[in-house]
Amino acid sequence: MPLQPLTLITICCFSFAFSVDVRSRVDCSPDPHSLNEQKCKSRGCVWEFPQVDAPKETPPCYFPSTTGYVKTKDLGNGVLVLEKQNGPLNPFGADISPLKLKTHYIGSTFELSIGNDDRYIPPLNLPKEQPNDNSDPLDFQETSGTNGTFTFQMIRRSTGRIIWDTSIGGLLFADQYIQIATLLPSTNIFGFGEHVHKTLKHDMTRYTTWPMFATGFPPDSGSQLSTHPLYGVHPFYLCIEPDGKTHGVLLLNSNAQEVTLGPAPHLVYRTIGGQLDFVFFAGPTPEAAIQGYLSYIGKPFLPAYWALGYQLSRWGYQGVDEMKTVIRRNQAAGIPLDVAVADIDYMSTYEDFTEGEKWSTFPEYAQELHSQNVNLILIFDPAIEVDYDTFQRAINQNVSFVEWPRFDQVPTKIQDQYPLAKNTKMMLGNVWPERNVAFPDFLDPTNKTELWWIDEFRRFHDMLPYDGIWIDMNEPENFQTGTLKGNNSNGKTLQCIVDGIDGKFDNPPYETKAVYDGFDPFLASKTLCLNGLSIRGTNNLYNTKSLYGWSESRATAKAHQSAIKKRGAVISRSTFVSSGRYTGHWLGDNVARWEDLRTSVIGVIEFNFFGIPYVGSDICGFTGVTWEELCLRWHQMGAFHSFSRDHNMHYMPAQDPAVWPSVTKAAKIALTFRYRYLPYLYSLHYRASTIGSTVVRPLFFEFSSDSETFSIDRQFLWGKALMIAPALDPGIDSVHAYFPDDLWYSLQDETYGKIIPPGYNDVPAKNDTLTPVFARGGYILPRQTPSTTTKESRNNPFELLVTVGQNSISEGELYYDDGVTQFDSIDQNPHFSFNFTYSYSRTAASLNARWSTSISNYTLPTLDIIDIVGYDYTPDFNSFYLNGKRININIQTSSYSPFTRRLFISTKNLIDMNAESTTLAWSHKAV
Ligand SMILES: *[C@@H]1O[C@H](CO)[C@@H](O)[C@H](O)[C@H]1NC(C)=O
Ligand SMILES: *[C@@H]1O[C@H](CO)[C@@H](O)[C@H](O)[C@H]1NC(C)=O
Ligand SMILES: *[C@@H]1O[C@H](CO)[C@@H](O)[C@H](O)[C@H]1NC(C)=O
Ligand SMILES: *[C@@H]1O[C@H](CO)[C@@H](O)[C@H](O)[C@H]1NC(C)=O
Ligand SMILES: *[C@@H]1O[C@H](CO)[C@@H](O)[C@H](O)[C@H]1NC(C)=O
Ligand SMILES: *[C@@H]1O[C@H](CO)[C@@H](O)[C@H](O)[C@H]1NC(C)=O
Repeated sequence: MPLQPLTLITICCFSFAFSVDVRSRVDCSPDPHSLNEQKCKSRGCVWEFPQVDAPKETPPCYFPSTTGYVKTKDLGNGVLVLEKQNGPLNPFGADISPLKLKTHYIGSTFELSIGNDDRYIPPLNLPKEQPNDNSDPLDFQETSGTNGTFTFQMIRRSTGRIIWDTSIGGLLFADQYIQIATLLPSTNIFGFGEHVHKTLKHDMTRYTTWPMFATGFPPDSGSQLSTHPLYGVHPFYLCIEPDGKTHGVLLLNSNAQEVTLGPAPHLVYRTIGGQLDFVFFAGPTPEAAIQGYLSYIGKPFLPAYWALGYQLSRWGYQGVDEMKTVIRRNQAAGIPLDVAVADIDYMSTYEDFTEGEKWSTFPEYAQELHSQNVNLILIFDPAIEVDYDTFQRAINQNVSFVEWPRFDQVPTKIQDQYPLAKNTKMMLGNVWPERNVAFPDFLDPTNKTELWWIDEFRRFHDMLPYDGIWIDMNEPENFQTGTLKGNNSNGKTLQCIVDGIDGKFDNPPYETKAVYDGFDPFLASKTLCLNGLSIRGTNNLYNTKSLYGWSESRATAKAHQSAIKKRGAVISRSTFVSSGRYTGHWLGDNVARWEDLRTSVIGVIEFNFFGIPYVGSDICGFTGVTWEELCLRWHQMGAFHSFSRDHNMHYMPAQDPAVWPSVTKAAKIALTFRYRYLPYLYSLHYRASTIGSTVVRPLFFEFSSDSETFSIDRQFLWGKALMIAPALDPGIDSVHAYFPDDLWYSLQDETYGKIIPPGYNDVPAKNDTLTPVFARGGYILPRQTPSTTTKESRNNPFELLVTVGQNSISEGELYYDDGVTQFDSIDQNPHFSFNFTYSYSRTAASLNARWSTSISNYTLPTLDIIDIVGYDYTPDFNSFYLNGKRININIQTSSYSPFTRRLFISTKNLIDMNAESTTLAWSHKAV
């Protein structure tokens, strides 16, 4: 039996014939209430209590490897028929048999599905494009498991590496319980979401189950291990194989589901609906695996340029005046600031598309912000109170809302209070508004719901000109969902049906560890009842609930387009596979704690894997009272997340950077650096939108042959060329950071241009200087002299940072457009796309700037500064030629130091960026 790795079957030899190594079990009692020997054996499973030194959470009851199906037919075209013949039965429902296993290539991307023709498939409309890199494909190979059980392997053709091997057994398929298990080629497993992960690389020394189901549960970074599912669902992982090659795997399923990672190393997938649709992305580099994934699911939207500016938010502004005061004091303190954000306070009794009493001058204030080049982002919740004009218009337009399957299930006592909802099957709930709400069905296949939603944003924008949209509560969250039939005393609680056949969806035979390990007694706790109907009454939330935020995001991105008619940004709390096409994300309601600062580094990296690079955490922490040192360090780090926003909880003391002089100073330094490098960050987002690359990435993406990088999760990269090693602990003034084998130049003032040697180094991380940031040799990073808004920064001269690498050429690129024009096709949008090349010999150096695309109709500022680090020659400032013509360099503002090895060329109007190709050449001699 070809098992990988081969060390697997070392301690066998229990008397039972099908005894499996304690490290590679497939749990037969994932439902904790059935955990006893008798129940275990009645399921046809093996009961064998793990010894004390067994891996943590080793299941005592496990499926024998004969669990599964038998192949009975090969229909050709990659279709096999599987039938249930023997082995243990599905413990949670009748086995479905026969099943079809289908395989299909899209370039080197490989789809494998197990199901049958009438199973639910998430209606995502994915582009499914083939990857750019198809160089190193994977093969599917049937194998025969124990006792004739059908099993298969996925194998990397070039190396013969087995990356999936289902000989571990465990394939089960009932209507509400589907399971598959596989051995993995290494313990280097990353991804799955959304959860709090305390480490980027999963701990494969133990058994850990990660449920995935969209919930309103906030991240709990404080505990040692919190596996509770959070707002979004991303059943995607990356695996670095033992030789450094990397693949990715997606399970495309939107039911409540979970993955158990185990020490074989292996994984077990369980889902309680739909079917098994796996997609394998061949890599062979981590970046290529993600690009393959995003070609398949869709590439992220390009945010407006200003949306990469700093954002200031809080919940609990008492009115426009308080918001003004806070924004103003930060502007006065010189904090770079592009966005003012209003939470639900601005609404009248928390109803969407309304303004509260103390906000009557909000429209004027929005204009005032615009005159200061500041943009406004507003929050909106999906649920609509069922008694005001927005809802009336929905009724008039035959909008679809989530509804009960039958009239007799509708709690009429509640429904009848509302003339507009009376005699409908709408499933009413309660969120922030005072009275009951209904939940728009954004999966409505007639576009009535979407058109109404778009229209509401348009109407509201006519009153209050906002620039970006923040959507919250869209798992969807509902307060006070109970499970007793009937009404409670305040007439508010939504009661789900859990008994009998009608309780099939709210009380399924297996509920996943979202319930068993969590705090909620039912899957529907804090959300709508899962028997609720969506897709205009045709499918249950049981299947579609985790798509609620995804579908709202799709509709809201269109609403943004239609209302604002410019690019901006939408950010969403709940996300699903491919949400990045429509929205960004913030990591939710974190806590002002060091642990939350640390896990946000990991969360942001993971959302880049998931194709949602416009992501960040609430700087300083959302709940809890933050403090000066934490808020300072969080600003220093958060300045390096694409979505960079300080946000604060109701009733908590103010935590904007102007509150403490030390935070003001640190935030100014970090954000000014960010604003200087925005052309680089924006170009990375352009790359993400066009080829599906990551923006923030872990070190192993660039150094996958260096296994030390696999566990580095306190540092991250911006693209290939910038490394950030933020301070994430109290009371420190240096960071112990890892430098992979390459040239790394410090960009901190005190040591600017200094090379940091490879390996671990303690680098200064003071609280009144720049965060440790390093540029990698061999690159050119576009910059722009910063101002305190992106609008003003965009009028300033361009600059280039050139880092000399291990050979004599450095390269870089710049994507630049007007930052706000909407486009259907990024290629058609007026823009400049530059390539920069720097090269040198013993006697001369040259820098070339060339645009490959310019269909732009506006004029770019000039390039005035070229900042070269690692420069080992003495330049002749009198030898500069621009396109073959002698020019004068301003030697007052330019300099060279042989000690810092930095050549700084600064001359007003040095290079006209509107020219197609410019070459600056000069002579130098050895120092
Ligand atoms: C092995 O297969 C035979 C014939 O299909 C069946 O009778 C037997 O129960 C199987 N054994 C196990 C352990 O599944
Ligand atoms: C509203 O839409 C439903 C389909 O979901 C349709 O049956 C019904 O006739 C429509 N009602 C009106 C008033 O158009
Ligand atoms: C909405 O659907 C109708 C009917 O299918 C179609 O005519 C219309 O163009 C659609 N509108 C939009 C904005 O998609
Ligand atoms: C900043 O660092 C200095 C020196 O380590 C320390 O005395 C001071 O308390 C720190 N300030 C904050 C706000 O953490
Ligand atoms: C610019 O660089 C890209 C990627 O490196 C390359 O595909 C393209 O051909 C280059 N364009 C020009 C005009 O040099
Ligand atoms: C550039 O073109 C866009 C449309 O592509 C247009 O909206 C904009 O006004 C134009 N700008 C100038 C300066 O002509």
